[in-house]
Amino acid sequence: MTTTLLKVLIVFFSHAGENYAVGNIEVGNTKVVADYIQAYTGADQFEVVAEKSYDMPYRDLIKVAQEEQRKGEKPAFKGSVNIDDYDVVFVGTPIWWGTFPQVMFTFFDKYDLNNKTIIPFTTHEGSGLGSVVNDLKKLYPNAKFEKALAIKGSDVRSSKERVEKWLKELGY
Ligand SMILES: Cc1cc2nc3c(=O)[nH]c(=O)nc-3n(C[C@H](O)[C@H](O)[C@H](O)COP(=O)(O)O)c2cc1C
Repeated sequence: MTTTLLKVLIVFFSHAGENYAVGNIEVGNTKVVADYIQAYTGADQFEVVAEKSYDMPYRDLIKVAQEEQRKGEKPAFKGSVNIDDYDVVFVGTPIWWGTFPQVMFTFFDKYDLNNKTIIPFTTHEGSGLGSVVNDLKKLYPNAKFEKALAIKGSDVRSSKERVEKWLKELGY
């Protein structure tokens, strides 16, 4: 009998720089969580990086992000990933105006995650998972969803054990 090892990918967006509640950070909150997951599971990472720059003060960024959402913009992102290689996809994001930054929707337009297992995680400052899980379920009705995790951005740097506990519950 052959054992099939499930291949796991962590797809995420994260915004380093000036951010709400944590000041100016070198590594974005969501990337901190993505790195915990990678260290624990050995999964590959694909960071969704917009071609346009979001390098601006927080008070400007919230306006830019709100406009993008209002207009349903789909900003381009850099690079690509061989999604067919993966069975399980952790999808990580900061909550921007209640859901994913628009550039994540560009990623979802390009890659079909149906028939894969999706494990969402967010960092936020009060919205929790926002509408992330519902949005993904609408986009990928034939995906299998595992228990999602939401962590306050200002807590991520002291939440390694919480992330590992969640991963353990998921079977890692
Ligand atoms: C443009 C923008 C919009 C945001 N909107 C929300 C929101 O609707 N709800 C919320 O709880 N936090 C919101 N936040 C806070 C971020 O979700 C939080 O700081 C997150 O941890 C940032 O992750 P990152 O450092 O990986 O980008 C927003 C932050 C930004 C920059």
